[in-house]
Amino acid sequence: MTDVPTTPRAASSGAASPREVDSFPSGFLWGVSIGAHQSEGGNIASDWWALENLPASPLAERCGDAVDSYHRWPEDLDLAAGAGFTDYRFGIEWSRVEPADRVFSRAAIDHYARIVRGAVERGLRPMVTLHHFTLPQWFSAAGGWNRADAVERFLLYVNALAPVMAAGVVRVMTINEPNIVAALPRLAGGEANIAHGVPLPDPEITDAMIAVHHAATARLRENHPGIPVGWGVSVQDYQAEPGAEDVLALHAEPRDTVFLRAAAGDDYIGVQTYFRTHLDADGKPMLDPDVPKTLTGWEYCPAALGGAVARVARTLPHVPVIVTENGVAVADDTQRIAFTTEALASLRAAMDAGADVRGYFHWSLLDNWEWGHWGPTFGLVAVDRATFTRTPKPSLAWLGGQAPGTGGEGGSH
Ligand code: BGC
Repeated sequence: MTDVPTTPRAASSGAASPREVDSFPSGFLWGVSIGAHQSEGGNIASDWWALENLPASPLAERCGDAVDSYHRWPEDLDLAAGAGFTDYRFGIEWSRVEPADRVFSRAAIDHYARIVRGAVERGLRPMVTLHHFTLPQWFSAAGGWNRADAVERFLLYVNALAPVMAAGVVRVMTINEPNIVAALPRLAGGEANIAHGVPLPDPEITDAMIAVHHAATARLRENHPGIPVGWGVSVQDYQAEPGAEDVLALHAEPRDTVFLRAAAGDDYIGVQTYFRTHLDADGKPMLDPDVPKTLTGWEYCPAALGGAVARVARTLPHVPVIVTENGVAVADDTQRIAFTTEALASLRAAMDAGADVRGYFHWSLLDNWEWGHWGPTFGLVAVDRATFTRTPKPSLAWLGGQAPGTGGEGGSH
């Protein structure tokens, strides 16, 4: 990241003092998020593994062993629980559960059930993500989400996860950022770049995402009544030039609003926010040269979280919000604390204005593989990629300390 002050200016609502973090309601969820492929390593049956091993792979850097969370998950859970977090979001990798067409791995299912039990034993409420960008290669190679049987095949996977759910899953996210999944073909083809705003999702994949989500939600409710189900949408804070506000709705509609409306019957809506998108009078995203950029090239804009959550609450007034991802890629951990302090202050302001927000999950517990790059470090914990040694950064104890029971005042169980 270039030139980010520890007390940020521009694109923010003003620095918050740490005390502003103190006023979250009782029962608020304080969580950390990780994804399966980005942290597990060795997902050799997945389409992203195939992609990184193409002779002319478009990916700049390989995921490879990632940060070996497939084996080191007890250590990861210890770090989250030890810092005081109450909730733990992690991913289940479909390509491990069903590595070949209709071949299910009992060992992989047992593995994920052990993580769920391990979280519960440590006092962490486990939330599982069923799909986070990666697909089994057999499914992807035969059309992926455009397959006519996509819903049916996802439901077979959902059915196979019954032992994982029964081990004590507390919350399910069916799909991580369906609006980004629907934009992946354009992102992979180099036509779009998230630094210039959320890309336009493909309409057919959008329809498939909504159909899969609704079917999976119904199946999970039938098989596992009582476990809340939702999905996590990439929602950015759209801001327009004065007088050009009508471009906002047009821009947001295919990028997130359609995915938010599809969550109208859900138990919660997951909001995943990293930046604002500033639109010019024609509705084109513009990057402000005066706003510092993070290691991902995104504008440093912590208050985007409050703006995004307020818009979600207006769009879906009857569905509780959980911030399932928010964070920043910076090398200097002091900046992560400053960013998160201000993001939480903006979230608190959205709640004071009426948004029903039940929790905040930080992305990410660990520095991990950022979809083709190792450079952008989002973690509360650094990982040595040669030894896999985990080294907590000061932000881990700081943010975990906001949760109840750790001396913070961030609410109680
Ligand atoms: C994704 C994560 C990613 C993060 C930061 C979200 O879009 O769910 O996989 O690492 O943003 O880019």
